[in-house]
Amino acid sequence: MKPLADIDSQIVCLLKEGSFVSGQEISTALKLSRSAVWKRINGLRKGGYAIEARPNKGYKLSTSEKPYTTVAVSSALKTETFARVLHFHESVESTNTLARKLAQDDAEEGTAVIAQAQTNGRGRRGRAWHSPKGVNLYTSIILRPDISPVHAPTLTLLAAVALAEAIEEFIAPIRVNVKWPNDILINGRKVAGILTEMSSEPDKIDHIIIGIGVNLNIEAKALPEELAEIATSLREASGRAVDMTLFACSLYSSLEKWYALSLSSGFAPVLAKWRTYFDKVGQNVKVSEGGKGVATEGICTGIDDDGALLIKTTDNVIERVVSGDVI
Ligand code: BTN
Repeated sequence: MKPLADIDSQIVCLLKEGSFVSGQEISTALKLSRSAVWKRINGLRKGGYAIEARPNKGYKLSTSEKPYTTVAVSSALKTETFARVLHFHESVESTNTLARKLAQDDAEEGTAVIAQAQTNGRGRRGRAWHSPKGVNLYTSIILRPDISPVHAPTLTLLAAVALAEAIEEFIAPIRVNVKWPNDILINGRKVAGILTEMSSEPDKIDHIIIGIGVNLNIEAKALPEELAEIATSLREASGRAVDMTLFACSLYSSLEKWYALSLSSGFAPVLAKWRTYFDKVGQNVKVSEGGKGVATEGICTGIDDDGALLIKTTDNVIERVVSGDVI
């Protein structure tokens, strides 16, 4: 069984294109009743999967095409609120820009935007985010946490934890690492990034947009030259194509779970989990601020409870770095 996210994705995995798989086989493999299998199959059909059913034979996929549409995502969602309001577009300038407009128009917490392509995808520090059509996930989600703006950076770490967890479900047993503050790497190559943008008053957050880009199925040969050596995709790393709809749903579930946990139990569990993905403790690191060359260098001792990077410099002073890039 491929280590995919949930029962629907496991059913999609079991279904074949050429031959029928019996309902009994699916129900035994997934420990589900026959009627539960039937309900799931109907849910998948509503989501756009072309599944043929024949008495005494079972089910088969009529086409290898995996739907990636509003209906497909909405019907495969397992969340309570996240992405239940979903704006799904073929192409937008930037999902973060659209999400910000929606938030300014009072969109509720959990509202999400997906685009199949972005014409001006934005990365951190004014960089561009390569956003070709139909191969990768570009999504933004609106949060309205009742926390002080000074604690907003911890939400970026939360998004990194949720994202790392969702990615690992699809590429297991391959593991990911986080590069402080929030790049997700597979074998040292970047596979996903997070752009967090906040609108707040001095002591109150109005909204936070968590923008996430994940290289799902892009092939190495399609990467632009400047990314060829430093980026990868889930498909390149695992050798398996990723169902974009199921990945998006898995990511929203993971985000919702970690967000709810942070509201009920504080950020300690998020930080603890983030630390498990971080492999630079005890190593020499260099940090640039604003892309202006090395600003701080020393031995990394971890991150503090606000998510700042801690670096022990040559004169044995621990410096707290709150923004920058580990280079
Ligand atoms: C980075 O690592 O520099 C952050 C990249 C964030 C990219 C995503 S794609 C969806 C959302 N919309 C954007 O314009 N950017 C973020």
